[in-house]
Amino acid sequence: MVDPSASPVIPSARSKIDRHRMNELDAISHRPKGTRSALGGTDWQYIEAPGLDDFSAQDWETLNRQRTPYFAGQQAAQALRMLTASRDDATFGYQINNYEHCLQAATMALRDGLDEETVVVALLHDVGFVACPTLHGEFAAALLGAYISERNHWMLRRHAIFQVHHCRGWPGLDHDERERWRGHAHFEWTARFVERYDQNSIQADYENAKIEEFVPLVQRIFARPPRGVGHPE
Ligand SMILES: [Fe+2]
Ligand SMILES: [Fe+2]
Repeated sequence: MVDPSASPVIPSARSKIDRHRMNELDAISHRPKGTRSALGGTDWQYIEAPGLDDFSAQDWETLNRQRTPYFAGQQAAQALRMLTASRDDATFGYQINNYEHCLQAATMALRDGLDEETVVVALLHDVGFVACPTLHGEFAAALLGAYISERNHWMLRRHAIFQVHHCRGWPGLDHDERERWRGHAHFEWTARFVERYDQNSIQADYENAKIEEFVPLVQRIFARPPRGVGHPE
């Protein structure tokens, strides 16, 4: 059902930078005034009210009935498109770009026989690395948090700080900042994930699995009943 190769990836101009990218965005279809987005199902209906204030109980019943299958079909696909949209991007110096890094982390986790959830977590752990660099761990934690264990959620939120432990050659960093969590139930797992699947998954000579291998795993993780992880106040 999900085919990342068919997703609307912006063709990479492999330009030095992304002035060209913005021009490519101009070429993406623009919805003329008065036209509607396609409905996801042949027997689905649009809600005609102009704002939520005007939705009737019947409108909400219709919307919520259509929402459930829509999300079931789209959620994993959209998460994968977020990742695959950058598959042809340049790198700022690593041998491989962020997409390949994510794929490599997941491949290593898969070949080590880790559980399906952790393979998916590895695949998406840096999905926000370029768009949301400072808080990219929180980005992934927010994306996956309702569907994964507290152990992996905790790990995602803090993995970038644990990563600094491996940047010994980078002067001026607090390489032991992770020590503030020493003794926490998820400290050792987070340290192990970063050491085995993150700090080293930047190798051009490593043969990554194909993204298609991970699609059913991602679909199954997002099909889990969401658990409560709290909402912002
Ligand atoms: Fe990261
Ligand atoms: Fe990473």
